[in-house]
Amino acid sequence: MQASTIAFDRYKPLQDDACQERILTARARLGKRAVILGHHYQRADVYKHADLTGDSLRLSKLAAQTDAQYIVFCGVHFMAEVADILSKPEQISILPDLGAGCSMADMANLSKVERAWREIAQVLDPDETVTPVTYINSAADLKAFCGEHGGIVCTSTNARQILEWSFARRQKVLFFPDQHLGRWTGYLMNIPLSEMLVWDPDEEMGGLTPQQIKMAKILLWKGHCSVHQMFQAQHVLNFRAQNPGGMVISHPECNFEVCKLSDYVGSTDYIIKTIVSSAPGTRWLVGTELNLVNRIAEELKPQGKMVKFMAPSVCMCSTMARIDPQHLAWALENLVEGKVVNQIKVPAHEARLARIALDRMLSVS
Ligand code: 13P
Ligand code: SF4
Repeated sequence: MQASTIAFDRYKPLQDDACQERILTARARLGKRAVILGHHYQRADVYKHADLTGDSLRLSKLAAQTDAQYIVFCGVHFMAEVADILSKPEQISILPDLGAGCSMADMANLSKVERAWREIAQVLDPDETVTPVTYINSAADLKAFCGEHGGIVCTSTNARQILEWSFARRQKVLFFPDQHLGRWTGYLMNIPLSEMLVWDPDEEMGGLTPQQIKMAKILLWKGHCSVHQMFQAQHVLNFRAQNPGGMVISHPECNFEVCKLSDYVGSTDYIIKTIVSSAPGTRWLVGTELNLVNRIAEELKPQGKMVKFMAPSVCMCSTMARIDPQHLAWALENLVEGKVVNQIKVPAHEARLARIALDRMLSVS
């Protein structure tokens, strides 16, 4: 009889230190059969075990390139889905805690997007005039929707290139689920704010009139990140008043005012690279998740760089933080025993269509 998987309950009482040891041992026993991918927001006691780290774009490319049998994703659910879609059929994508979701991704779902598409169709032919663009922070079925309807995926790194690709094909874009990334990118492309209208999925016709739908260049889904919404223009103004000559850098999921007041706006990779390559002694205010900011603040302290978190309150990606040493140890030790726990498997039909939208993105960026 085959042995069953080791239950997670046995890992709950483990101290973090004991988990660290066990992760290292399991890691060594798995060797090249497993690769651990870690997003920059991952908590320090898990991030340090990652073989490869990056922003969403980099991690999706790495997932497509690795030959490891097991891809253990220390990130959130949509990232593990992308790893499953882009990796080879025999590879297995694992999310150590299935509760590690993305609150922004949950703000759009297939039935609401399909309803939006039907409602837009009452005013114009969306398959002729609207490119659906989904931020990578979305479920696989929304990527599949984009694949099926001539649309594409974007990340915070390539959003501008993706919108340029989209407008070269159709006159308008339906951008979901993050209104802020869509608005900021449109703004960089000189699209007037008056032509970027918010589509509220809880209102009939998105809360817009047929005339507004006809004149809009980008329909921005009413979604946001619960972490980045905490950063406010006043935080930037206070920092500037207290730190003349200080620099401000933000993630494009921050609201429009924060992005506009920032010296630099970009993905998590971009934020890290920009601060790392700045002159010694530079003072930075950073509008993105706390684990990333704390990590680079520590790393760069010896160079005299001051790296400050933008909000006065603690803004962590609490869902990503659910992947703790206990869950990582549990997932790895099961693999050592030849057992797979928490596999993320996108249904084949959905994966095929989602891959079309992801491949379009990868060929553009
Ligand atoms: P990046 O692609 O910049 O890493 O962003 C992912 C994310 O979820 C930011 O909240
Ligand atoms: Fe999602 Fe926000 Fe967490 Fe990024 S920080 S993974 S957008 S909830």
